Amino acid sequence: MVVELVRLLVIISLMMKHGDIVPPNRFRDDFAPLRKEDPVAYLDNACTTMRPDSVVDEINSYYTVTPGCAGRSPHRWGNSVTHKLVQSRGLISKFIGATTDEIIFTLNSTFAINQVAHGIKWEKDDVVLTTDKEHNSNLVPWLQLENKGLIKHSFVHSNDDNTFDLEAFEEKCSTIGKNLRLVAVPQVSNLDGVTNPVKEITKIAHDYDAEILVDSAQGVPHNKVDVRQLDCDYLTFSLHKMLGPSGIGVLYGKEECLANLDTISGGGKTVSNISDHDVQFLKPPAKFEGGSSNYAGIIGAKAAVEYLQSVDFEWLRSHEVRLNEIITDGVKDIEEVSIIGPDSARLRGGMTSITVDDIDVHDLSIILDEAGSIMVRSGYHCVNSWFNSKDIAGGSLRTSVYLYNTEEEARQFVDLFEEAVNALR
Ligand code: ALA
Repeated sequence: MVVELVRLLVIISLMMKHGDIVPPNRFRDDFAPLRKEDPVAYLDNACTTMRPDSVVDEINSYYTVTPGCAGRSPHRWGNSVTHKLVQSRGLISKFIGATTDEIIFTLNSTFAINQVAHGIKWEKDDVVLTTDKEHNSNLVPWLQLENKGLIKHSFVHSNDDNTFDLEAFEEKCSTIGKNLRLVAVPQVSNLDGVTNPVKEITKIAHDYDAEILVDSAQGVPHNKVDVRQLDCDYLTFSLHKMLGPSGIGVLYGKEECLANLDTISGGGKTVSNISDHDVQFLKPPAKFEGGSSNYAGIIGAKAAVEYLQSVDFEWLRSHEVRLNEIITDGVKDIEEVSIIGPDSARLRGGMTSITVDDIDVHDLSIILDEAGSIMVRSGYHCVNSWFNSKDIAGGSLRTSVYLYNTEEEARQFVDLFEEAVNALR
C-alpha cells in the first residue's frame, strides 16, 4: 500500500515535469501505434516489436479476403493461400541464405528449439553444451532431456564482462571430447545484448564433430544473417521480434540434419503414406509442419521480411548503438546503478540491462510508463538461471531499441530514469 502510494506520487510529480515525446524518424509513419497523437517511447523491442501497416494489412487480408486452407482445398481461396505460403517460404529462405526445403514454420523460436531437442536421436553419453546465460527456451529442453537420462547438459562460463570465452569453450569441447553431440548458443543474448562469435563457435564445434544450433531470436532481427556463411546446422528465430506477427517462428536446418530429425508434429500433411501400423513421412519441411498452419502469420511474415529488406542493416546497427550509447552514458554514473555485461554500448548492440541496488526495477518500469509513456521490460527476461547464479533478486530493467526509436526517446528515458531512481531513494 505504502509502496503503491510512493509510486503514485513519483508518477504524478514526474508527469507534471515531462511533456510529450515527438521524435522524428523516417520509419515511424508506417507504425499505427506511433502515429497516435500521444505516442509512447517503446523501448521493449527484445520482447516484441511493433508491426508496420504492411504486415497488419497482409494479416487482415488473409481473414477478410482469402480465409482458406493451404495445400488442401483446390478452390480459389485455398490456391491463393497455398501460393502465398510458397512465396513466404521462398522469401524467408533467401533472407537467411537457405533453400526452401530447409525452412520450417513453427510457433516461435522456443518451439523450433524443442523440435530439435526432441527430434534428435540421442545416443548414450551425448552431451549438449550451452552458455551460462541462456534464455529458458535454450535451457529447459536440455534440462528436460537430462532429467530423462537422455543427455548430459554442460555449459561454458562467460568472461567476467559476460562476453563469450572462446578459449574456455574450446577447452570444454576438448574435455567433453567425442561425447559432444550438440552446441546450442544464442547469436545475441537477450540478457545483455552481447553478440557471440557464432562463426568461430561453429567451426570449433564442427572440429569436435558436434552439431550446432544458433538461437537467433535476437540475431536475425538486427543483423544480416547468412546460414551458409555461419555454417550452422540449425538456426531459430521468431517473427514477432522482427516486425512480424506473433505465433510464427522459423527453424532452419541443413538438409542433411533435417533428414535425420524426427518430427514432433506428426499429423495431417506430414505423411506420404500411412496404414494401420505404419507411417511414411514426407520430406522436410512438410514432415515437420503437421496440422493446419498459422496461415495469416506466415503471410504476415513475408510482409515483415519485405519491410526489413528495405532497411540497411549497417545503418540499423549504428542507429541502435547510437541510441544505446545515449542510454549507457546517461545511466552508468548514477549511484548504485550497474549495467549487466560489457561497459561499451557497442558490445551490447541495442540493449542495456540495468540493476539498481535496493530499488525494485519493476516499480521503476511502471513509473517510466505511467509518468512518461516509456515502455521497458523488467524482471528476469526468461534468463532466470543467470540471475539465480548471481543472486540478483528481481532481475533487471532492460531497454532494447529498434529502427523506429529515436535519440530523443533515449534521452527521455535517461532523464526520467534518473529522476525516478532519485525519487525512490
Ligand atoms: N525473450 C523475450 C525477451 O527477452 C521474451 O524479452
